[in-house]
Amino acid sequence: MKFFVDSADLNAIAALNDIGLVDGVTTNPSIIAKSGRDFKDVIAEICKITEGHVSAEVVATDAEGMIAEGRHLRKIADNVCVKLPLTMEGLKACNTLSREGTPTNVTLCFSPNQALLAAKCGATYISPFIGRLDDITLDGLELIEDIRTIYDNYGFETEILAASIRNVNHVKDCALIGADVITAPPAVIENLSKHVLTDKGLEAFMKDWAATGQSIL
Ligand code: E4P
Repeated sequence: MKFFVDSADLNAIAALNDIGLVDGVTTNPSIIAKSGRDFKDVIAEICKITEGHVSAEVVATDAEGMIAEGRHLRKIADNVCVKLPLTMEGLKACNTLSREGTPTNVTLCFSPNQALLAAKCGATYISPFIGRLDDITLDGLELIEDIRTIYDNYGFETEILAASIRNVNHVKDCALIGADVITAPPAVIENLSKHVLTDKGLEAFMKDWAATGQSIL
């Protein structure tokens, strides 16, 4: 399973990358706005931290405009992945850009049928949003399961990039279902390492070791 960081926080991305936990990065217009920085500068800097795909989202709403923006964004770095909304115009742009060899991430997916369309249009990634479905009392994980089944039924190569991940249980459940990628905020990825018994056990080991008066080096 690939781990993408859902963030434009360069320090947080670099810290996780140093540990070996970053296979790529996703951004969206809200994340870029929150960074307070120039869109293209931030994407260029993220692309230097990781060799993996870095999703940069178009903001045009017509296919022609999305294609032009996508081609422009691709000039920033070879690992830019053009992120497109799941609309008929976005699918049209996905089809054109994918045929040109541009990596594409179709975002704002909330139904299995939407995911089917993205795969048919050659998307590299489909981004189903788990948390936002849970927010309205629907089942985000059921969506991931349904897409997994449909893609496996027909051998679609589009990767399921589980997005809008809010907690560590979402990550575990996505791994059990077989999502290809998860994208999560840095804090969620950090929390994956935590367990109260790990902390308690380490504290006891350190205390007992100190009592021996020995050193390893
Ligand atoms: C994914 O690509 C999106 O940027 C992100 O996961 C959305 O998450 P949110 O619903 O927590 O805003």
